[in-house]
Amino acid sequence: MAVSGSKCKSCKAPAVIDLPRHNANFCAEHLLQLCRRQMAKAIDDYDMFGPDDHILVAVSGGKDSLAIWDMLIEAGYRADGFYVGLGIGEYSEESGQYVRAFAEQRGLTLLTVDLRDEYGYDIPTAARATKRVPCSSCGMSKRHLFDKAAKDGGYDVVVTGHNLDDEAAVLLGNVLHWDVNYLARQLPVLEARNGFPRKAKPLVRLTERETAAWCLIRGIDYLVEECPIAAGNRHLHHKDILNAIEQESPSTKAAFYLNFIENMSPLLAETTAAAQGELHHCERCGAPTTGEVCAFCRLVATAGAHEPVPVELVLGKRGRR
Ligand code: FES
Ligand code: ZN
Ligand code: ZN
Repeated sequence: MAVSGSKCKSCKAPAVIDLPRHNANFCAEHLLQLCRRQMAKAIDDYDMFGPDDHILVAVSGGKDSLAIWDMLIEAGYRADGFYVGLGIGEYSEESGQYVRAFAEQRGLTLLTVDLRDEYGYDIPTAARATKRVPCSSCGMSKRHLFDKAAKDGGYDVVVTGHNLDDEAAVLLGNVLHWDVNYLARQLPVLEARNGFPRKAKPLVRLTERETAAWCLIRGIDYLVEECPIAAGNRHLHHKDILNAIEQESPSTKAAFYLNFIENMSPLLAETTAAAQGELHHCERCGAPTTGEVCAFCRLVATAGAHEPVPVELVLGKRGRR
């Protein structure tokens, strides 16, 4: 990570990272300070949560979710972790180990749910049973379980580790399709409504390179490997496109996403309200839904009835990059 011969913009010590979008290099301590400042600004600007709120951090074992949990604890927030075992072969086993080790070493509270043990299915089986891409049942299962864990545990807000690269890539995809409902859901904070908890993304002002640097400097071990069945996912392609633009023209990525938030939030707030439609309780689990049975309970029924599918069978071309 060292940047040979260059000096930190703030203290002139040898720099460990160059950040073209800030037109500067930083030493380890000042990189940490930059991350702290950017997180605090996101929390403040978007009114995400306050010092008394009880936070549930959705952790995957990757760099972003462990970085945000660490940053929140370091800043004095009350934050517990929540991990969902997705049953994606070795990837899930290893990710669970990283999360547990992180929590144990720091004496933090970690809540866990295992899809196979508690709901009778895993993501490879759900993908095969629904004949859809794995990320679809994965995202839906996680959203439902985050909401449920927050409600059951009395948490004020669910925090996820989405960073600037993630959000800009998703934004590009949504803009290419002008998908207004998805655009409305991309705001960095979604208020609690109709039985759903508040959700916040305090890392939206930091890139994945910066969160990786945070982990490295702070000695956080995380799972480097990406999910094997998400490879080929279109967001990854959009990330590559944005990185190519960023290389030519540093800070475009941040302007693309952050100016979207600033200029579009007021307009999209109405769309979010309108998109809610009429919600009532799922007759099986009680979660808010537009139908009689929520999408999660329907997935549990479909995937739970399917014989278990080993992860290798859904890898296909996706796993070979
Ligand atoms: Fe959800 Fe890979 S982590 S499909
Ligand atoms: Zn410095
Ligand atoms: Zn339900």
